[in-house]
Amino acid sequence: MKLLALLPALMASSCFAAPPHTSTPLAQTSTITAAGGQYTVPIHDLQGAPRLPNIHDPEAVNAQERCPGYVAKNVKTYSTGLTAQLTLAGPACDVYGNDVHHLDLLVEYQTKERLHISIQPSYLSAHNESWFLLPGEYVAAPSQEDGEMATADLAFCWANTAESGFVFDVIRRATGDILFSTRGTKLVFEDQFIELVTQQEDNYNLYGLGEVIHGLRLGTNLSRTFYAADIASPVDLNIYGDHPFYLQTKYFEVSGEDAVATLVTETVNTTNTAANYTSFTHGLYFRNSHGMEILMQPNNVTWRTLGGSIDLSFFSGPTQPDVTHQYLDVIGRPAMQTYWSFGFHQCRWGYDSWAGTEEVVDNYAKFGIPLETIWNDIEYMNQYRNFENDPVWFSYAEGRAFLERLHERGQHYVPIVDSAIYAGNPYNESDAYPTFTRGNETGSFILNPDGSLYIGAVWPGYTVFPDWFTESAKSWWKDELASYMQKLPIDGVWIDMSEVSSFCTGSCGTDMLQYNPVKYPFGIPGDPLFKVYDYPEGFNLTNATEAGPAAAAGEAQAVALAKLISELEGDVPSSVSYVRTTPTPGVRNVNYPPYVINNVQGDLASHAVSPNATHHNGIQEYDVHNLFGHQIVEATYGALTAIRPEKRPFIIGRSTFPGSGAVAGHWGGDNMSKFSYMYYSIPQALSMSLFGIPMFGADTCGFGGNSDEELCNRWMQLSAFFPFYRNHNTRSAFPQEAYVWSSVIDATKKAMDARFRLLPYLYTLFHKAHTQGDTVMRALAWEFPNDPSLAGADRQFFLGPSILVTPVLEQGATTVNGVFPGLVEGTDLYYDWFSKTPVAVPSEKNTTIEAPLGHIPVYIRGGAVLATQEMAMTTRDARTTPWSIIVAPGVDGKAEGELYLDDGESLNPNATKMVTMSYANGTLNVSVSGTYSGLDLPLANITILGVQEKPSCSEVRINAEIVGSSHYDACSKTLSIHGLQGALGGKAWGANWTLS
Ligand code: GLC
Repeated sequence: MKLLALLPALMASSCFAAPPHTSTPLAQTSTITAAGGQYTVPIHDLQGAPRLPNIHDPEAVNAQERCPGYVAKNVKTYSTGLTAQLTLAGPACDVYGNDVHHLDLLVEYQTKERLHISIQPSYLSAHNESWFLLPGEYVAAPSQEDGEMATADLAFCWANTAESGFVFDVIRRATGDILFSTRGTKLVFEDQFIELVTQQEDNYNLYGLGEVIHGLRLGTNLSRTFYAADIASPVDLNIYGDHPFYLQTKYFEVSGEDAVATLVTETVNTTNTAANYTSFTHGLYFRNSHGMEILMQPNNVTWRTLGGSIDLSFFSGPTQPDVTHQYLDVIGRPAMQTYWSFGFHQCRWGYDSWAGTEEVVDNYAKFGIPLETIWNDIEYMNQYRNFENDPVWFSYAEGRAFLERLHERGQHYVPIVDSAIYAGNPYNESDAYPTFTRGNETGSFILNPDGSLYIGAVWPGYTVFPDWFTESAKSWWKDELASYMQKLPIDGVWIDMSEVSSFCTGSCGTDMLQYNPVKYPFGIPGDPLFKVYDYPEGFNLTNATEAGPAAAAGEAQAVALAKLISELEGDVPSSVSYVRTTPTPGVRNVNYPPYVINNVQGDLASHAVSPNATHHNGIQEYDVHNLFGHQIVEATYGALTAIRPEKRPFIIGRSTFPGSGAVAGHWGGDNMSKFSYMYYSIPQALSMSLFGIPMFGADTCGFGGNSDEELCNRWMQLSAFFPFYRNHNTRSAFPQEAYVWSSVIDATKKAMDARFRLLPYLYTLFHKAHTQGDTVMRALAWEFPNDPSLAGADRQFFLGPSILVTPVLEQGATTVNGVFPGLVEGTDLYYDWFSKTPVAVPSEKNTTIEAPLGHIPVYIRGGAVLATQEMAMTTRDARTTPWSIIVAPGVDGKAEGELYLDDGESLNPNATKMVTMSYANGTLNVSVSGTYSGLDLPLANITILGVQEKPSCSEVRINAEIVGSSHYDACSKTLSIHGLQGALGGKAWGANWTLS
């Protein structure tokens, strides 16, 4: 702990002198000097107060033991729900806040599938104004629709019990199964602490509750903290986004003639067959923007929040797709992405000039690897100031010419835009930063409680933070983006540091702006004593020559750091004295709430804007900290649609909240160049599927640390099957572009070839996500809901319903163990994507698959018709290639598929086309609806997989006309029909047709 806390200070002290913290502004910066020529934010401003998380505190009070619970009175039942008053059942306990004596309960059967339960302070307690209820205008709130108690899937039951007072159950009517029960526990409702404990069966299956680096199935021993944090992806702790939503699947074993269903409470392994199981899935969304914690323990789950209300939406499912549809009906369905956004993106922290950036683009071309988009990190900015380019290395004139060259070739450009705004030095005219001035003049920044500007510190020095609750901030942001886009016609926006991150604690820049531009007080990769020596697992085995010296240098660096630490030891208290607080009647302690969540950064103000920072509407940051990342992508979406009303915005954000997927995609944040993080990218993506953010991808080849050939080879192939496909790297780590290692070039092209062919399928999946709320990347358990052995499967995934990906995730492996769900049971068939051969039925579900370096096992699930195009250097060019069709029949010999087409970029396309393809008995029917004709290109070939015998007749007819003949390959069991370019008047989707 001590060492970690000191590390940032050491970095600073090794390079820069800190100015004294003074409240007397100095007249001129020129009067201040420093050996390094640039000051840092004072080191002591980094440290938050030491706080001991309640879940680790041996002295922590158990609210369940102290608090009286509530009693329900005045219960009124209606056809659509019920209302009641909840009154404290005994003397207030005031454990972690002030008890709210009177609560209003509102239960609404809002739709047949959605039950909403709201518990919030009653008007009877209105004299105490110290709570915050999240308005629907900031985060969509569910409301009563056409639901009725009599016909709803779920039932709400309540009781006043002697031991716990008011308790309630939520029951699935069809099965009588209790989904949620507070029986035997007390409701605790204080202004800074709400607790709700629910019972769970053994071995329950919960998913979601992100954002967290963890396996997909959350297990029964995990604490999840919800507090958006700028932190480099630690396992099991709070990171960038907050999604208080879970999906729960309950498996039942069906046995006997009467089909008795018994809840499965043990792990079912992969050798069991799935024939006798069924499952029911439901969802729960706890709509609350406060710091929260959910403790998953054997047999119970505890929800705690630092404020707000109990706002629960239960979704009855009963399948995962149903739950996701129902949840996204409330929070918003995913944005339709532009076609080009599915191309490959290259990024890194460390492209230092336009020339250096263009060299990367040229290298991709030189090695024949498709590159759609090149990104710039913070180097392009003038001293890290948003909307201003460095005049020397990233001049506008050169940039415009570069972007023109990119655009001519069908490529794109996306720069980073940070969340914090540099606050110029008021005593130095040459430091004036017009973006700040305009925002300040329009009252667009977050304030201190006294009404002065809240000034934190990020990359540029002391900074302010947009107040998204004001209309002026949104319109200022739009104007700044618009004028920047006049200078450089960028194609999308990468929003970073949006938790919102601030490197110092509190308004550390108050009265300090005269020191701007100031340097952040810690090292970044590449700084002295902060070199990158870390490598993927097993690097010592694959590259002993480099691994040895790197390890030695890493150790020497650690020794140097330790020496500095011991020099500073005297500055560090030998024991920590934690800040503990107790409730004050009628007043909230927002900076140090009595209940301490297990925030990865400790103090809520640490590495973030402080909880007492105040918005122009009076809302304190404490109540809405988790919303900043969501609000900035919403504001950016609003800005981009105002600037280019006809185009779909392309936005990738770091911090997200329920609803963010409706406007933006998300990348996985600062992962590490490790095989373990490559694995974690899969459960992270699948969780984002549940949260309605399908446009997800991790930093391919890894961000922190150096990557290596083997890891990058595997990862470039894996990410090719993620919707958002971007390679990104930290500053000073060794280059990891796909062309750096020859085997990675080949592996990348191989996987990209598959990706390009599947782009029309991926695009169609996004259309269905956007219009219906379908998921894109899918867990095996969601596609095979009756197979409990898949409950925790997260090392494989489906892309849509039809593509199964089984990647190698371990260093040194040349085979991978995977399952082919339904294959052993005889319900499903699979075909190898590359060889097109059917997968032979394995005797056991867990199958060892050959996967030498450079090969990623990918399979088509039987039952699919896929329309494909070909690989090209960009998606624009791919969209001009001829169509092919792959028919992969299922066990019944039938297959079907859909293809959605439009211009790939319009927000509201004026023409679209939907193609429906179905295959049975040697006949393929294609039916076309809609008028979009931009992709009416020739059909090149059709391949039918899994044809067991050579057909007696090779004649191929489209409609009645003979168009050619088929070729049968007995080895792969495929029937191919080539040379169809001339058929159908050269327009694959011009009209309906039938092939026989
Ligand atoms: C943050 C981002 C990372 C970026 C870096 C520099 O750490 O997560 O992607 O490269 O900042 O801007």
